[in-house]
Amino acid sequence: MDGNYIHQPVLAGEVAELLVTDKTGVYVDATLGLGGHAIKLLSTLDEKGKVLGIDWDPEMAGLAAGNLAPYGSRAKVVQGNFANIDQLISGEHLNTIAGVLFDLGISSLHFDKPSRGFSLKYDGPLDMRINPANPLTAYSIINHWPYEQIEHLIRICGERHAGRIAREIMDKRQAKPVETTAELRTIIEKATPYHGQKTHPATRTFLALRVAVNYEFDNLTRGIQKVMPFLAKGARMGVITFHSLEDRIVKETFRFMAKMGNWKLVTKKPVAPSEMEIEANNRARSAKLRVIEKTQEAK
Ligand SMILES: C[S@@+](CC[C@H](N)C(=O)[O-])C[C@H]1O[C@@H](n2cnc3c(N)ncnc32)[C@H](O)[C@@H]1O
Repeated sequence: MDGNYIHQPVLAGEVAELLVTDKTGVYVDATLGLGGHAIKLLSTLDEKGKVLGIDWDPEMAGLAAGNLAPYGSRAKVVQGNFANIDQLISGEHLNTIAGVLFDLGISSLHFDKPSRGFSLKYDGPLDMRINPANPLTAYSIINHWPYEQIEHLIRICGERHAGRIAREIMDKRQAKPVETTAELRTIIEKATPYHGQKTHPATRTFLALRVAVNYEFDNLTRGIQKVMPFLAKGARMGVITFHSLEDRIVKETFRFMAKMGNWKLVTKKPVAPSEMEIEANNRARSAKLRVIEKTQEAK
């Protein structure tokens, strides 16, 4: 990746406004990306306030470290999966933090780089790994998983034609392995009736593959659970989601936390971007921000 990629942070003003309750504290940006939210947080905090940024993608962590260099010791970047956020925070010798942000999914850089295989728009290898060191790829799912597992994966991600798509994949891979995003896209187009609907017929299958390759739901659940003990009384956790499946996990988890006590919902309804933000950044259109606050010291 060169330095020309841009990722516009989504709901940045709202994040700073709703997340910062102690301007001198340490905040964790669990999905650092290029550091857009981290920079917004650093500029909202006092000189004493700090940000610990985490990204699973080593390349992204390296780019973010460059972007955050002007903040000196106020910003620290670590590479890792936020599913292990407890170890990553402890590794920095921190006992408590003043807030945490999860801005889920992948960055515009990931989408725009064909060799990562995330995008329907470009031809690339069937990869989709956020951390290229992981063993599981979209290629292995498409070429090695049995019909039932592929059908189930696509169906739970909301694809009505999961059976037809899975059958067409089985059919095609008998002749030769399916190797590229363009091949998969063509297979899905052939398997599904396409009548010019707004979203491309392969959109849900591509999302399902990315979620499975990166264990995204599992990471999210673990990340939320493991960061809870580190938040100080009055500290807040914010999560930005981009599709209904992950938003449901956050909504239900936050509701459960509030019901159990020690936590209160800051946003009863998710915060959505303004029309103006969506016009300037189309990627923001499906974003939802939910925030919860710790009300008791109890772990
Ligand atoms: C939507 S982008 C974040 C953009 C960032 N907030 C900004 O303003 O530039 C999500 C980032 O989270 C990272 N990511 C996804 N899953 C992760 C995980 N389980 N642990 C750590 N980072 C993760 C991705 O590599 C990506 O850079």
